[in-house]
Amino acid sequence: MTALTTGAILTVTLTLVSCAKASASDSNLTVPPGAVYINPLMYDVVGADYTEWRNLSTVGFNPTNTTPPFIQVFDPSFLNITGPSATIRSIVSNPGFAFAHEAPIYVPDLNAVFFSSNDGGPLGYNGWYNNSVVSMLNMTEVDMALASTTGDVNIQIQTLNLPDTVQMVNGGTGPYKGDLLFVTSGRALLPPSIVRVNPSPPYNATVLLDNFLGRQFNSLNDVKNLPGTDIMFFTDPTYGWLDSFRPEPMLPSQVYRFDPSTGQVRVVADQFVLPNGIAFTSDGKSAFVTDTGSFEGNFGTNQTLPATIYKFDVDPQTQAFTNRRVFAYSDSGIPDGIQLDATGNVFSGCGEGIHVWNAEGTLIGKFYLNSTAAEMIFTKSGLVILDAETIYLANIQAQGLDLATL
Ligand SMILES: *[C@@H]1O[C@H](CO)[C@@H](O)[C@H](O)[C@H]1NC(C)=O
Ligand SMILES: *[C@@H]1O[C@H](CO)[C@@H](O)[C@H](O)[C@H]1NC(C)=O
Ligand SMILES: *[C@@H]1O[C@H](CO)[C@@H](O)[C@H](O)[C@H]1NC(C)=O
Ligand SMILES: *[C@@H]1O[C@H](CO)[C@@H](O)[C@H](O)[C@H]1NC(C)=O
Ligand SMILES: *[C@@H]1O[C@H](CO)[C@@H](O)[C@H](O)[C@H]1NC(C)=O
Ligand SMILES: *[C@@H]1O[C@H](CO)[C@@H](O)[C@H](O)[C@H]1NC(C)=O
Repeated sequence: MTALTTGAILTVTLTLVSCAKASASDSNLTVPPGAVYINPLMYDVVGADYTEWRNLSTVGFNPTNTTPPFIQVFDPSFLNITGPSATIRSIVSNPGFAFAHEAPIYVPDLNAVFFSSNDGGPLGYNGWYNNSVVSMLNMTEVDMALASTTGDVNIQIQTLNLPDTVQMVNGGTGPYKGDLLFVTSGRALLPPSIVRVNPSPPYNATVLLDNFLGRQFNSLNDVKNLPGTDIMFFTDPTYGWLDSFRPEPMLPSQVYRFDPSTGQVRVVADQFVLPNGIAFTSDGKSAFVTDTGSFEGNFGTNQTLPATIYKFDVDPQTQAFTNRRVFAYSDSGIPDGIQLDATGNVFSGCGEGIHVWNAEGTLIGKFYLNSTAAEMIFTKSGLVILDAETIYLANIQAQGLDLATL
């Protein structure tokens, strides 16, 4: 490095330090009650001995004195997403059981959210021998309970009694032709699969795919349909093996395309560490895939591996994912499930809470929980956040991509 360059960097650094004396309260920005504006320039640098950086899959980084849960505003444009009076309230709680972790699907006709417990993990109570649990939350009951109090509520959820073909639900989308569309991680030698489940009793299920030309997948994680089509795209990391409920992997960590009308299945993207959440833009021309590579299940975390959302073009002819580029790296936590709102902002469950980036990839806000939020789903009542032992509802103004057309 030349002396000139060093001098230039010093000048910039001094500017930042003087700005760092500004605080959130100096801002004129009007945020929702309880929310905090975090000017990105107000951070103080954190020492290399700040051990929490080593454990960011479960512990968040909070540069304020406010106690979670609360909304962090990083950019004024986030206020258009929250609206003027957004709140975060706990609507279901079951301490000690990670009952609400994966596969959220909102079924508008029932006004209900379906979701599954964590597959693997210390509070999942499942593994090689035990299946995970799928439940239903009735949003009509949530609305009625919240209308009668300003505080938190604890709604009774309903557990679904699913057929044995549905083992370890980990991802979901839909409704797909009126049904829930799940991907499962499989368990022991029971294969991962894509499965349609009737959202009403008797909750009967039909397996659509459970192999790649004969080979078992590793442990399917998440699924989305290409907008306007029945074609399914799904991710297959090795968490089943990393979390000790599946045998050693036999395939690379890839993203697949499945056309249920022909049975054709093929790989559309590879070169991931642990591909996880998946989403498309509303026009179907671009895809997002999160890579939770820095969280290695039972093996812990490695901060040199991705906590990254990649963006791709969807090839108009083959629907292969091309032109891979970084969309965003999470400053704290690891991006897991991913959903877009109607105007193209990107929401991802990053452990410490839900992070929101604008379409250019700038972090504009967080629903900060300091917990283990992996997934979220838009409903008519707001954003439902699956936080393992708790479900939160953020009554925000933004609508989900899928709900905008209802
Ligand atoms: C605010 O959100 C609405 C829809 O919720 C959108 O139409 C509009 O473009 C947004 N405005 C800005 C400045 O982001
Ligand atoms: C949700 O709750 C409402 C009010 O109790 C009830 O009328 C409705 O049938 C419930 N929906 C489902 C899917 O159970
Ligand atoms: C599996 O279920 C059994 C019976 O409910 C329970 O005793 C055991 O602890 C569970 N195993 C795991 C890994 O949670
Ligand atoms: C459930 O059973 C009904 C009645 O047999 C059938 O029409 C439907 O396709 C089944 N749904 C699934 C997802 O298997
Ligand atoms: C972290 O991952 C990198 C890249 O794979 C690897 O070289 C390194 O050994 C890992 N570190 C630890 C502590 O496992
Ligand atoms: C976040 O959670 C950790 C672990 O539960 C706790 O030690 C820490 O105090 C919490 N931080 C905040 C800001 O609540």
